[in-house]
Amino acid sequence: MSDLKDKRWRPLRDLRISVTDRCNHRCRYCMPREHFGPGHTYLDRSDLLDFEELTRLASIFTELGVRKIRLTGGEPLLRRGLPLLVEQLKVTTGIQIAMTTNGSLLAAHAESLKAAGLDRVTVSLDSLHDASFQAINDVDFGVDRVLQGIDAALRADLRPVKINAVIKRGVNDSQLVELASYARERGITLRLIEFMDVGGTNRWNRQEVVGASEMLATIGAAFPLREAPPQAVGEVARRYAYLDGSGELGIIASVSAPFCGSCSRARISADGKLFTCLFASSGLDLRRPLREGASNSDLRALISATWSRRDDRYSELRRRRKTLAAEPVEMSYIGG
Ligand code: GTP
Ligand code: 5AD
Ligand code: SF4
Ligand code: SF4
Repeated sequence: MSDLKDKRWRPLRDLRISVTDRCNHRCRYCMPREHFGPGHTYLDRSDLLDFEELTRLASIFTELGVRKIRLTGGEPLLRRGLPLLVEQLKVTTGIQIAMTTNGSLLAAHAESLKAAGLDRVTVSLDSLHDASFQAINDVDFGVDRVLQGIDAALRADLRPVKINAVIKRGVNDSQLVELASYARERGITLRLIEFMDVGGTNRWNRQEVVGASEMLATIGAAFPLREAPPQAVGEVARRYAYLDGSGELGIIASVSAPFCGSCSRARISADGKLFTCLFASSGLDLRRPLREGASNSDLRALISATWSRRDDRYSELRRRRKTLAAEPVEMSYIGG
């Protein structure tokens, strides 16, 4: 395996690939409609890396140490032919492939994704009630569509199935135990996420963040928990096991307990830019060299030089009340 390290001695292990900047949800914390309405310009089809380009990059990243690929968006299932991309990535790299999805289109695709080689899915779901699901995600369909997607993922054995719930004060913090019960009953790992100040449109403020310790205490009072050891280096979620043996809970405390020290993630946007931090404001264009005939070794040199120079640790600096020099990219563009 490559011994590529960044300036803080962090290896490159995870690759998050955004396959589209479009989404059929308008979550208030990610794509608020007033910014992502009819006036918003999305990437053009010709801007997107095609499956061959993505697969070629993924294979170079794998040579450089990547051991897990996560497909994201926007909503990745809006990208036409996604199972074909999964198949090409799996056959070419042979490593674990996961996907983060809003679940609304999952019922129709779970089987074909599994057959193509997808290993597991994480579904974003912040509420089990139509009214609050619709208010948070700003959609006009009911939560049932997502729940059917989750059922389909379980049937297709895309396991471990995980649920990501972003918790905001006064919005869904009263639904924590309910979400945990739903997940426990189905062998799903629920991950509770602190609301982050990512992008420039979600009007983040600290008062709306529900901290990890509060979330843990609320769930622990209903279902006793113990800490569980990390399964891999660079994991973003802290793991807790239910004492009654009914699975696990994850807490992603990027605001109250940043995890930059072990961050081993690179991100590629749908138009082929390489970002070394979720809070970056610019990325390295890989599409241009790809389309201008760069060889694999040219691309490998570009990527390793960028990783070697990497010094990012935004979440840690935020805690010291430092601010960003430039506007960061949006979560829907960089894929979370
Ligand atoms: P697992 O492989 O299942 O652990 O997935 P994951 O947690 O790496 O990915 P997922 O897409 O489910 O992301 C969960 C949450 O963690 C989302 O809110 C992400 O935006 C956030 N997250 C993921 N990676 C990072 C990171 O490097 N930095 C920060 N600050 N947040 C991250
Ligand atoms: N804070 C925390 N998590 C967020 N996500 C999207 N926006 C935010 C935010 N502002 C989550 C989504 C998805 C994951 C990729 O990121 O819910 O599960
Ligand atoms: Fe879409 Fe996910 Fe962003 Fe919600 S969080 S708007 S589902 S990309
Ligand atoms: Fe990694 Fe940047 Fe997130 Fe820190 S803030 S964990 S460096 S992506």
